[in-house]
Amino acid sequence: MKQLALIFILFSTSSVVIADANKGKKLHDEHCTKCHGSEVYTRKDRFIANRAALDKQVKRCQLNVGAQWFDEDAGDVADYLDQSFYHFGK
Ligand code: HEC
Repeated sequence: MKQLALIFILFSTSSVVIADANKGKKLHDEHCTKCHGSEVYTRKDRFIANRAALDKQVKRCQLNVGAQWFDEDAGDVADYLDQSFYHFGK
């Protein structure tokens, strides 16, 4: 596990972004898996086409959950989804 993390860091440009994405993953797994799993992020006809749309959708869905996140939290979740599934880059 430690080795894996090290490889991740070596290939990444910013460890700050990793920390954010890790936090985003935690928030996501806690709050965002009630209605859909990660399959909607990778399906062929997914409707999110750019990073701005992703940010918007995270906020929209977050309101559905009733979680009271700060913009920063929504941004962390968008970072996580972007890095893991969408790959738009910031
Ligand atoms: C109350 C139910 C519900 C919850 C909880 C929910 N979502 Fe969604 N989400 C939806 C629906 C409905 C769609 C649209 C799915 C469709 O069109 O098939 C969607 C779609 C999405 C998409 C777009 C997928 C695509 O096509 O590219 C993203 C991204 C997303 N949700 C993120 C989140 C995040 C992040 C959370 C946690 C904050 C979350 N969702 C929690 C209902 C929910």
